[in-house]
Amino acid sequence: MDTPVNVLILAAGLGTRMRSRKAKVLHRAGGRTLIEHVVATARELAPPERIFVVVGHQAEQVRQAVAASGCGFIEQKEQKGTGHAVLCGRDVLEALGGHLVIVYGDGPLLRAETLRRLIRRTESIQAAGVLLTAHMENPTGYGRVVRDAQGHVGAIVEQKAASTEQLAIREANMGIYCFQSDLFWKYAGEIRPDNPAGEYYLTDMVEILNRAGHRMDGMMIDDAREALGINDRVELAEVDRQFRERKLRDLMLAGVTVEKPETVLIDVEVCIGMDTVIGPFAQILGKTRIGENCTLGACSIVQDSELDDEVTIAPFTFVNASRIGRAAQIGPFSRLRFGNHVEQGAHIGNFVELKNAHLGAGAKANHLAYLGDTDIGAGSNIGAGTITCNYDGTYKHKTSIGEKVFVGSNSTLVAPIEIGDGAYLGAGSVITEPVPADALALGRAHQVIKPEWAAKRRARKRN
Ligand code: UD1
Ligand code: MG
Repeated sequence: MDTPVNVLILAAGLGTRMRSRKAKVLHRAGGRTLIEHVVATARELAPPERIFVVVGHQAEQVRQAVAASGCGFIEQKEQKGTGHAVLCGRDVLEALGGHLVIVYGDGPLLRAETLRRLIRRTESIQAAGVLLTAHMENPTGYGRVVRDAQGHVGAIVEQKAASTEQLAIREANMGIYCFQSDLFWKYAGEIRPDNPAGEYYLTDMVEILNRAGHRMDGMMIDDAREALGINDRVELAEVDRQFRERKLRDLMLAGVTVEKPETVLIDVEVCIGMDTVIGPFAQILGKTRIGENCTLGACSIVQDSELDDEVTIAPFTFVNASRIGRAAQIGPFSRLRFGNHVEQGAHIGNFVELKNAHLGAGAKANHLAYLGDTDIGAGSNIGAGTITCNYDGTYKHKTSIGEKVFVGSNSTLVAPIEIGDGAYLGAGSVITEPVPADALALGRAHQVIKPEWAAKRRARKRN
């Protein structure tokens, strides 16, 4: 493919049938917005300066959703049809030459490989353009592909304008095209809104180019589902399901074990290493990266996090925006809210909450603790029930615990506070003053013993 490829993504429509205040392409499937999927596919074919999104409804939000890709935008203020949407981009696109690939922002399942085939086909048969078609049992609502005796595509007839005979055609236009840019723009001005809907139909280009003596062709795909556009939330759920299935299949074929895959939810951008085992009902979301030989227990949720190799996430554990070092063990029933870094071999046990916490290598917090805005050195042990009091009602403060510190159970550390290396904190202490290295700190009422007190009380009650 030496000819440069330009990709135009039509995404100006609202999508009334979604029954939403949000533009259709901003809805999510497989863990990202529909428009992000389509732009990512376009990026496999063209550099960002050759990708343009036609925006209209909620133009600003749609721009924001994909701005990071570096693609360009074309504004279509009034939605006067697919042909009009393309014509809005004339100024930028005509000058770029090459091939013009047109896709929809609401068709996120389309693969780059299919578009590559479409482009190759346009080149190999020297057509003015090739459109993607599919055989559909029920093509209601789609433009029908009318072929001539030689099998060339003569016209696309929209549902509303089709004769009874044409309505019986099962080959449908998927709305995805590759045109030779120079020919397209030479004739694009001939599109007229002379149809019952009063719209500029992009599909008219087929007849226009044919009339001018240029050949148009259709390329049928085996599985129409790949090119399906989303119209309502039932279809959104269906497309979401397909993304998840594709992802699970890819992961399993790449060496990841997934138990009860029909219950597991993995977003499309997630990466997982070989021999990792994912338990039932796990959810792995966002931009999570998981190493090799890890275990994710049943019902665990890992989002936007990085797990090194051999990490264990036990069941019912939530890990968000955190980094977990090699062979660390988390859970069951732990919650890592965000900004945590748990280093190699560290253990986080049940009912432990971390927020913005750093645990050095081999550190342990095995039961019932809140560790917020906290730095814990390597090899330290945090006893059951330890609470870092990081919030004074107005500001957040930091707790700093050195290496090999022993924090006794039910300790309360009032931040800002520093505990030196090797120190011991007695169980039940409220620690408000810094503790030097290797010291023992006790911050609790001294125990009082009253011999025979209970026996005497019982005796009193009997009388
Ligand atoms: C279009 C095709 C039809 C094809 C079908 C496949 C035309 C005239 N018809 O019909 O042959 O079978 O797609 O799905 O092209 N859009 C804009 N601006 C507009 C109008 C639409 O950006 O002014 C965008 C929409 O957001 C949507 C896409 O273009 O993503 C398709 O528009 P839609 O109105 O759904 O076209 P169909 O009537 O389905
Ligand atoms: Mg449509």
